[in-house]
Amino acid sequence: MDLLFIPIILVSVLVVITLIIVWADNFFGTAGERTLLVNNEKEIKVTDSDTVLNLLTKEKIFIPSACGGKATCGFCKVRVTEGGGDVRPTEEPFLDKEQKANNVRLSCQVKVRENIKVEIPKSLLGALEYKAKAIKVEDLTYDTKLVRFKLIEPDTMEFKPGQYAQIKVPGIEIIRAYSIASDPNDPHHIEFIIRLVPGGLATTFVHKALLAGDDIIITGPYGDFFLREESKRDMVCIAGGSGKAPIRSILYRLQDMGMPRKVRYFFGAKAVRDLYYTEEMQAIAKAFPNFEYIPALSHPEDTDDWKGETGLITDVLDRMTGDLSESEAYLCGSPGMIDACIKVLKKHDIKDENVLYDKFG
Ligand SMILES: Cc1cc2nc3c(=O)[nH]c(=O)nc-3n(C[C@H](O)[C@H](O)[C@H](O)COP(=O)(O)OP(=O)(O)OC[C@H]3O[C@@H](n4cnc5c(N)ncnc54)[C@H](O)[C@@H]3O)c2cc1C
Ligand code: FES
Repeated sequence: MDLLFIPIILVSVLVVITLIIVWADNFFGTAGERTLLVNNEKEIKVTDSDTVLNLLTKEKIFIPSACGGKATCGFCKVRVTEGGGDVRPTEEPFLDKEQKANNVRLSCQVKVRENIKVEIPKSLLGALEYKAKAIKVEDLTYDTKLVRFKLIEPDTMEFKPGQYAQIKVPGIEIIRAYSIASDPNDPHHIEFIIRLVPGGLATTFVHKALLAGDDIIITGPYGDFFLREESKRDMVCIAGGSGKAPIRSILYRLQDMGMPRKVRYFFGAKAVRDLYYTEEMQAIAKAFPNFEYIPALSHPEDTDDWKGETGLITDVLDRMTGDLSESEAYLCGSPGMIDACIKVLKKHDIKDENVLYDKFG
């Protein structure tokens, strides 16, 4: 036989095997009625072979799912106490040894092929789906916008300052997470600070297509990154780019409380053109001596008239920080920035349990 035919035969065999697997998956996966039991309370009848995440969404149980079910965010974890099959390779990167031993799974990767029981933390059951209307789309810098939504149905969202919500991009139906930047005292409105990612699906929509008056679907609130209001520790806040969003919400609450703790807020940007809400931050510092705002530029431009801190935010943090063994830190921004800043905080003896962060990645 001509050697040239061998790859063709191999590919054909693979295609046939794949078709058989897909057929078997559909055939056996859809046979008979099954039940999805949630927290030993709610019983959902299932006749197709959809994922736990999608079935829960249909039942109005909104699990965080920043990647929309593509197994790239790892946010949609639930405990599967019965059924569910083996952990899939797509779940491996998101589950540590302890989670696997506790049957934690990515709900977007588990199909209901048999009766299945799941446990969902009570804190997630409070998330709702909202119809919202954009009422303001405003430039904060050349690549960052503030978007303000009025909640229509339901018309209020109770969130903790620091938490995030998810928006569904109309037309392409993709879902993305955005930290809530607004005042938690105003449950009728939600603001986001959204930075354009070149080529990014959701941010291109927000920056190029979204207009005041447009309707959008939001789910939330989500997340355990929020102000620990009962704590009396000094606070170090660190943010870069749109990471200012949740810190802004936290600052609203701290002002309401009369700024009872010492707060130092480091904000990392490249150049003057990347700074925003500077006057808002300076006004807070003027009103509350406990609050200090430290913007730092890593690459000031020649034309920048800048007398503030310069250098990487990690270096500025390092040189301006003393003992942090009794402090609490709140970090928001890119995963790289957060990991680098946590190293510096640890050098200054911060305790692991006092470091809170949301990685925007
Ligand atoms: C809990 C949480 C809160 C968040 N809050 C905010 C927020 O308040 N404001 C905000 O602007 N973003 C926030 N994000 C990030 C946001 O969810 C999106 O990931 C981001 O806006 C990009 O979405 P996109 O659809 O435009 O890009 P995609 O279409 O998802 O990505 C396009 C390409 O850009 C890359 N990419 C994705 N995100 C980034 C990034 N940030 N920087 C550089 N490259 C990137 C991707 O790897 C991909 O190659 C948050 C993320 C999380 C997980
Ligand atoms: S929804 Fe993102 S990993 Fe499941």
